Amino acid sequence: MSIEKLLEKNIDESKQGEVLQLSENEKSGRKMYIESYGCQMNFSDSEIVASILHNEGFSTTKDITEADLVFVNTCSIREKAELTVRKRLEFYNSIKRDKNPGMLVGVLGCMAERLKEQFLEEEKLVDIVVGPDSYRDLPNLIAQVEDGRKAVNVFLSLEETYADISPVRLGGNGVTAFVSITRGCDNMCTFCVVPYTRGRERSRNPESILKECQDLFNDGYREITLLGQNVDSYLWYGGGAKKDFKKASDTAKANSLNFANLLDKVAQVNPKLRIRFSTSNPQDMGVDVIDTMAKHENICNYIHLPVQSGSSRILKLMNRGYNRDKYLKLIDDIKQRIPDCAISMDMIIGFCTETEEDHKETLSLMDYVTYDFGYMFKYSVRPNTPAARMEDDIPEETKQRRLAEIIEKQQAHSLLHMREKLGNSYEVLIEGISKKSEQHYYGRTTYNSAVVFEKGNHRLGDYVMVKIEDCTSATLKGKVI
Ligand code: SAH
Ligand code: F3S
Repeated sequence: MSIEKLLEKNIDESKQGEVLQLSENEKSGRKMYIESYGCQMNFSDSEIVASILHNEGFSTTKDITEADLVFVNTCSIREKAELTVRKRLEFYNSIKRDKNPGMLVGVLGCMAERLKEQFLEEEKLVDIVVGPDSYRDLPNLIAQVEDGRKAVNVFLSLEETYADISPVRLGGNGVTAFVSITRGCDNMCTFCVVPYTRGRERSRNPESILKECQDLFNDGYREITLLGQNVDSYLWYGGGAKKDFKKASDTAKANSLNFANLLDKVAQVNPKLRIRFSTSNPQDMGVDVIDTMAKHENICNYIHLPVQSGSSRILKLMNRGYNRDKYLKLIDDIKQRIPDCAISMDMIIGFCTETEEDHKETLSLMDYVTYDFGYMFKYSVRPNTPAARMEDDIPEETKQRRLAEIIEKQQAHSLLHMREKLGNSYEVLIEGISKKSEQHYYGRTTYNSAVVFEKGNHRLGDYVMVKIEDCTSATLKGKVI
């Protein structure tokens, strides 16, 4: 397969640009159109934005030409993600010019936070710029714009978790949903823009999390993914930033709740509600989390555990807070406690000073772990991060070649894991209709592997046992038994 093909298959931007829409809401009044890019947290945030504006009488539309308000929820993680958004802004510009002159355009999320007012100056089209912690201010900002002024709010909060806002589930399947549990990140990996665009880490009130999960179950949802940049770092002690925990009272400390405690409670909402979580940072994931997973049948046997590099020297430059040995010890702990646990990773290729030797260590680490899935990226310098002060010295062709080698290895490992499943039967939660055939359903196993099978008389949200008969490196095919 050509490098381009391999790269194309690897893009995590595959889900990008999904247009979200409320279930039919024929309320007369103003209409908004919202598009989301980037991580699951952005998709989840768009549901909070929709909820806030729904209360202001806005309904959503999939037709941009009839929208009064167009929002794009943006991602800054790599340069490519930002370029995609800039292209979309050009597209909105053409719509505004040719078809819908009255529409207002707002930029939300990480790019808004990173570029702030600069956006209003550079992109003449943008009317509103709102960072991830300021969505409650949207009604005021919209009023301000309608008053003829440009509107910006990029204030980052130590407390905001939107705990009391019931997200309006957009564009979903009615079976799986995201529930955000932490916001921000304190880890300061040297390559990463997130601490600057999403602010300090804070955890959401567990009661509001449990209520949201229970409500979702009552509404027919059967799987939730607990979301955070670093879920294992969850710490509830009555509110406030994690960095201020030291200053909390002794009672607050004694009553505090960590991620394993929260996971244990969420798992008890209902045995028929599947639980996943993302993302785990190896530096914060404790054995208590693995034990909680092992204890509850409904917590899926799947951990996304970004590694970023197999070389301890590079991990140190990245300020990841663990080295190769510590990461592999965690992998051993997982495999010992949950022998069939599926594991996936994120990997950055071509970070500053990466030698051929470092690259080989990455390849050998992959051989040791044999990940089920992987998301692999070329290093992309993000302005104003600590790594931006180092030299981005790996030539583009070298990055490209190393990335292709890593993707090829990952595909072989993914295929290996898929083949292991041939002939076995697994419980699958039905999530939707297969993209390729109307006659087939799509669902996932506990291991997060996609399964396609004939519909029969089953319905979305049902659990079925499927015997696996065939596979590719990405999908299992089988029959309901
Ligand atoms: N919180 C997660 C990561 C969030 S960003 C964690 O614990 O690691 C998602 C992924 O994007 C990261 O895991 C990393 O692999 C990749 N990434 C982040 N910054 C990047 C950069 N500057 N260049 C290339 N990839 C990057
Ligand atoms: Fe980024 Fe590292 Fe946090 S990758 S999101 S700074 S854990």
